[in-house]
Amino acid sequence: MKLQTTIILLSAVLGQAATLPPRHSIPRAYQLTPQKLRLLHISPSPPSAQSLPALSRIGLASSEIQQESTKGGALLSSSTNSSITSITATYQIPKADVPTRGPTANNTFGIYAASFHIGIDSVSGTPGCPTFLRAGVDIFYDGSLDDDLQQPQAWWQLGPNDPVGFGNFSVSEGEVVRVTAGAAEVKIENFGRLNGTTCTEGRTPYQTSAVKVDGGQGELCGREAGWTVEDFPLAGLPGIPVALADFGSVRFRDVEVQTSGGEKKNAEGAGVSDVWLQAQGGRLTDCEVVGGGKEVKCDRVFSSN
Ligand SMILES: *[C@@H]1O[C@H](CO)[C@@H](O)[C@H](O)[C@H]1NC(C)=O
Ligand SMILES: *[C@@H]1O[C@H](CO)[C@@H](O)[C@H](O)[C@H]1NC(C)=O
Ligand SMILES: *[C@@H]1O[C@H](CO)[C@@H](O)[C@H](O)[C@H]1NC(C)=O
Ligand SMILES: *[C@@H]1O[C@H](CO)[C@@H](O)[C@H](O)[C@H]1NC(C)=O
Repeated sequence: MKLQTTIILLSAVLGQAATLPPRHSIPRAYQLTPQKLRLLHISPSPPSAQSLPALSRIGLASSEIQQESTKGGALLSSSTNSSITSITATYQIPKADVPTRGPTANNTFGIYAASFHIGIDSVSGTPGCPTFLRAGVDIFYDGSLDDDLQQPQAWWQLGPNDPVGFGNFSVSEGEVVRVTAGAAEVKIENFGRLNGTTCTEGRTPYQTSAVKVDGGQGELCGREAGWTVEDFPLAGLPGIPVALADFGSVRFRDVEVQTSGGEKKNAEGAGVSDVWLQAQGGRLTDCEVVGGGKEVKCDRVFSSN
């Protein structure tokens, strides 16, 4: 039983569909623990060694350096005299599909995931700044479950404490959320399906979940703000990033940061990086800042190799 589970999980990572047992023989114990697998966004906490290469790549075209990174997106640094106190973005939750290209392709028994989050000091692990704040949504595909059980999870984290799910809140693929992470409060709002737009002006969210951030005030350095796509290990399977789902594209819109000096900024001038994992085919995202800084866009890409 245990061995079989291991094979399935490894296959999920490596995409070796050929070695998989037929669907009906997936161990029952495994089927019964979807919550455990799907719920927890495990962080590299504090964000450190694992994500440092992402920082060193900032400012370089992604073709220049090929370092492993589980994170991609845009990262804005604070200016000398003011710190970042709040970050926000509005985005439509993509669907997690099985990739049809690359080394992880077509493993319909497998597990695929992706995470879309925003945060303060949450990406590069600035030395001397162990506290970080982030919030967002994980999407998930599990081939051992019925398709309709695929359920995105909204979570927040005041690191190095563990991530926690937003209470009394649910979100589905295709719905538009606005996430705000501030030194005093972290909040997520669900606007539902907006027929292809993410314009929330004049609209009321049908669901909101907000949490006062205890102890966040004063502890966050506020050195950087990040809009991030992440490939993360699942709870119970630390160490190996899950196969990155084909999420198509995610667009963080109406991006904004506020600073201690009372300024508001968008992502103009932010450094851009991509998820890059050799075991999954190399470069896995193509991220850019567009619209004069109003939007951070990341497409799922598939290297030719
Ligand atoms: C930062 O603050 C110091 C001291 O208040 C001041 O001398 C300096 O000019 C400020 N720098 C910027 C970039 O505003
Ligand atoms: C995956 O399946 C799709 C649809 O059947 C096919 O077009 C594609 O070539 C397959 N990819 C791989 C890597 O086998
Ligand atoms: C959950 O959300 C609903 C609808 O927004 C609200 O009426 C209810 O009071 C909330 N429950 C808790 C425990 O926050
Ligand atoms: C989306 O479009 C449908 C059909 O045109 C309409 O009934 C619905 O109200 C629209 N929803 C929103 C949120 O605009």
